[in-house]
Amino acid sequence: MRILVLGSGAREHAIILALRREPTTHEIFAAPGNAGIAEDATVVPLDPADPAAVTAYANDANIDLVVIGPEAPLVAGVADELRERGIPVFGPGRAAAQLEGSKAFAKRVMEAAGVPTGRALRAHTPAELAAALDELGAPYVVKADGLAGGKGVIVTSERDEAIAHAEQYLGGAPVLVEEYLDGPEVSLFFLSDGDHVLPLSPAQDYKRLRDGDEGPNTGGMGAYSPLPWLLERFGGEAEFADLVTRTIAEPVIRQLDAEGTPFIGLLYAGLVLTAQGVKVIEFNARFGDPETQVVLPRLVDPLSELLLAAASGHLEDLPRPEFAEATAVAVVLASRGYPGAPVTGRVLTGLDAAAAVDGVHLAHAATAHADEGLVSTGGRVLNVVALGTTFAESTRRAYQAIAAIGLEGGQYRTDIAARVVEH
Ligand code: AMP
Ligand code: GLY
Repeated sequence: MRILVLGSGAREHAIILALRREPTTHEIFAAPGNAGIAEDATVVPLDPADPAAVTAYANDANIDLVVIGPEAPLVAGVADELRERGIPVFGPGRAAAQLEGSKAFAKRVMEAAGVPTGRALRAHTPAELAAALDELGAPYVVKADGLAGGKGVIVTSERDEAIAHAEQYLGGAPVLVEEYLDGPEVSLFFLSDGDHVLPLSPAQDYKRLRDGDEGPNTGGMGAYSPLPWLLERFGGEAEFADLVTRTIAEPVIRQLDAEGTPFIGLLYAGLVLTAQGVKVIEFNARFGDPETQVVLPRLVDPLSELLLAAASGHLEDLPRPEFAEATAVAVVLASRGYPGAPVTGRVLTGLDAAAAVDGVHLAHAATAHADEGLVSTGGRVLNVVALGTTFAESTRRAYQAIAAIGLEGGQYRTDIAARVVEH
């Protein structure tokens, strides 16, 4: 197949590496990609969020399948235009992508579908905000209603901090005050063809910047998969996936279909395992980053067949995707200053030595070639991904590899998957 992957992060690199691992050889194009992606695909200088430009390119280049990585092209309507032209695309249209883009839309759909989630109140004014904080109580959860790259949320026990955070957004769209959901978080991805869903393997993401879940929220600093501790609580990963499919993914997909906005693409369920059951914290309309980097390397089935079946309405014909027993750990290397104001343009060294560690590969997020060599171009620079037979082995490999990489001011967490190593 000729496949075009839109985006330029480590998630897109992971998707491309999974396509390349298949027994069938594909011609893979990436727009705009990055220096790491350029080693594994033909990069195309195309604005991935420009519906007309993407559609014209896909048409001219005889692309058989477009895979949309990030949220921006979804919200810009890239999938709608491709679909109108009859080009198979994995990614929802603008209307269904509001499941991620608008927290208010997501809450409404969940309520209509009877999907368990926390209570949420909308506040337009400081007075409404104060009332909402009092009603739901501490810890306080305040969210901007729109795309904020995982940074529009604050979870705090300090009322003043919650108010200060909300005041950045009040005046524009309303802010959302949410019930605090207490329990471990799980990310579970579903492929959807608009009608049927198939679960992938669950992962856990580390959202905070520093060890011990300290510091600000980020786009994600690391991840691991599978989650061995699901066994005790649910009897196994398959049982857990069944439960979430039945109570969360299917009802939401049916609701969106009934509303005339079918969801074709990846439904990312961000879940909390509360004492009262599994509840939704958020949906995303795309693969998660960095979770994808630990889920896809374990996928046994050819990814292109799954994505094409979803894009063309044939998921019903396929069995549930299979995953290898291997343990996978991803550690994100971020620039100094991330997530606030990352310092970019710094030289990266030691990548070959890192990738030479057994079971390790790199997924590039923000890298480019410059006169000085390979340099960083953004906040999250790359992921070190390690596979092993146990989490002790994969974490040892990941940290051995990342220690070989030089990036002045670079930051990474040293406790990714530590809790499962002890488990
Ligand atoms: P979101 O952008 O909605 O994914 O939120 C980012 C992170 O904030 C989540 O992954 C959680 O760690 C935390 N968070 C968001 N909403 C809640 C909630 N209602 N209860 C507890 N933690 C939350
Ligand atoms: N890892 C969180 C996200 O992709 O939104």
